[in-house]
Amino acid sequence: MDARVGGAAALPLFAAAPGLSARVPWLPLGVFPTPVERWSRLGAAIGCPELWVKRDDRTGGAGHGGNKVRKLEFLLARARAEGKGRVFVYGATGSNWVVAALSYARELGLARDVMLFASPTHAHAERNLAVTRALADTLVLRGSVAAVPWDVGRALWRGAATVLPMGGTDAVSTLGYLNAALELAGQVRRGECPEPEYVFVPLGTCGTAAGLAAGFHLAGLATRVIAVRITGGLVANAARTWLLAARALTEAARGGAAVPGPLAQTRLTVVGDQLGAGYALATPAGEEATRLAAETEGAALDPSYTAKTVAALIAAVRQGGLGGRRVLYWLTLNSAPLPGEPPAPGAAVSAR
Ligand SMILES: Cc1ncc(COP(=O)(O)O)c(C=O)c1O
Repeated sequence: MDARVGGAAALPLFAAAPGLSARVPWLPLGVFPTPVERWSRLGAAIGCPELWVKRDDRTGGAGHGGNKVRKLEFLLARARAEGKGRVFVYGATGSNWVVAALSYARELGLARDVMLFASPTHAHAERNLAVTRALADTLVLRGSVAAVPWDVGRALWRGAATVLPMGGTDAVSTLGYLNAALELAGQVRRGECPEPEYVFVPLGTCGTAAGLAAGFHLAGLATRVIAVRITGGLVANAARTWLLAARALTEAARGGAAVPGPLAQTRLTVVGDQLGAGYALATPAGEEATRLAAETEGAALDPSYTAKTVAALIAAVRQGGLGGRRVLYWLTLNSAPLPGEPPAPGAAVSAR
């Protein structure tokens, strides 16, 4: 069902937790459910015949997609409810999060202040930076992440803008991925894909993995989340992910959801061995994953997030653990043209 048409009633989350829509602001930005597909060519190439993909690259339909859209439906609803007419967004130079937040804030007519801190760059990040420059009303560039507390503190103190959290992650926006897990559970029920035993997803600010773990638990699926760390352990770690998942489940329970007890330890595993030298720095395994995904499925991965996640999946299959298992890769990277860019030749983005 198209959330733009169905509104809040179309969200499996609000069906499972009917009192939640009165507690948390939400507005429709994306197009859901996103498709689920079998990647049989990549599966055959790596020895994992039951390889599936959840196409959250298409959360925006023909508009900007990726994993941030589900979070922004909560965050920008709150910003609009606060009534300041302005958001403050911060992140690493070339951040996907910043581009997504700016795109949708502009769509809603909100003014946009941006702070970026320096981080390693590559072609994908450069494209994002150019779009960020075009979409920001004000932009501050800082040499290091150490400037974040100062700049964010000042924005909070001034109070002129709603400050959006880094990576779009907080306890409420995590509900976006709790909802996503319920959405996948519906697709499993309808026979669109088998129930995955393992779901691979990047672990950045932890909201995506946390919401999925919470949502699979609520849906009664046995699916385990394999969260692949793409940045340092201070930001991306199991403790933060568990906490966010628990808080999302608490919110859902307050909204009336029947949460079946606490999360099991086996629900979530954090994989740390694909990070390489650090955030946004390419690794040989990530480069191999990028080549294989392009050759077999025509899919474009990025060095920061998706390449390292697919590399972790390939490594797990090669180590003998997952070859015969039902594995789903949650594709979190936008595949639509960026605002102001022409569509890629031959790119067909379906607006389901
Ligand atoms: C493409 C992509 N995948 C995954 C993530 C990580 O998601 P989260 O911050 O919720 O852990 C990000 C975060 O920026 C991202 O841009």
